[in-house]
Amino acid sequence: MQTFVTRNEMNNWSRQQQAEGRSIGFVPTMGALHYGHLTLVQQACAENDVVVVSIFVNPKQFNNPSDLAAYPRTLEQDLEKLHAFKNVHVFAPSVDEMYPENFILEPMPLGTLGEVMEAKFRPGHFEGVVQVVHQLFKIVLPQRAYFGKKDFQQLAVIQKLTRFYQFPIQIIPCETCRENDGLAMSSRNLRLTEAQKKASLILIAVLNELKNAAHKRPLNDVLHEAKQKVASSELRLEYLEIADPETLISLNEWQAEQVCCIAAYCGEVRLIDNMLC
Ligand code: PAF
Repeated sequence: MQTFVTRNEMNNWSRQQQAEGRSIGFVPTMGALHYGHLTLVQQACAENDVVVVSIFVNPKQFNNPSDLAAYPRTLEQDLEKLHAFKNVHVFAPSVDEMYPENFILEPMPLGTLGEVMEAKFRPGHFEGVVQVVHQLFKIVLPQRAYFGKKDFQQLAVIQKLTRFYQFPIQIIPCETCRENDGLAMSSRNLRLTEAQKKASLILIAVLNELKNAAHKRPLNDVLHEAKQKVASSELRLEYLEIADPETLISLNEWQAEQVCCIAAYCGEVRLIDNMLC
């Protein structure tokens, strides 16, 4: 397994792979790898000749400096976990390498995706995600890139970015991995105590209830009750929305398919989850 730290080394290697006719699968991450990431790596390995995992805590996508400071950084353990795979290589650049002093990138219009839910509560977040993923795609040159459905809105933004810049990359959405009790896996879970993990199960409980109630009772009644349920828990609700899965615009009536998205704080830790129903 090779670990590249400069964009030139990474890009030269990727060009070489391309020249030799090998397909590159790409799993972008911010490290603190958990089982969910490893399932993406496994799928990428099954579908490509070689795989690149990037590990980069992207400062530009954090709107809250204390969240950035507290984000777990576990490079050594991450590399150990990746050693178990064949044909997996790592790109772990520094912040200066990704954002040199003269760094400029044209912004991409996000449309409504840049206004609702995560975008509303984390101003600048998706602009930061777009900046880093746009660069990573140009450096790593993958045929396929793997993203978890847990970040549902991010996936929609990445699909838009791929179309906007006409990258010849297939975006592969991957199912959310959950703990046995249903808690969506996230690097942020490392910061939860056992008691907080239990309290956080309200997220999946509420999403399941919404799914069960879909089409049976008026959407706004069901949504109101679900919000109250979270409000009376230990978590601090940021948003709970039932939205169109493509535009992510909130709905007032049930349609054939919708996505229920939730974000809430458990203590200092911000958690998100979603469910299609
Ligand atoms: O989902 C993430 O971990 C990050 O947003 C990503 C896609 C690696 C960009 O920094």
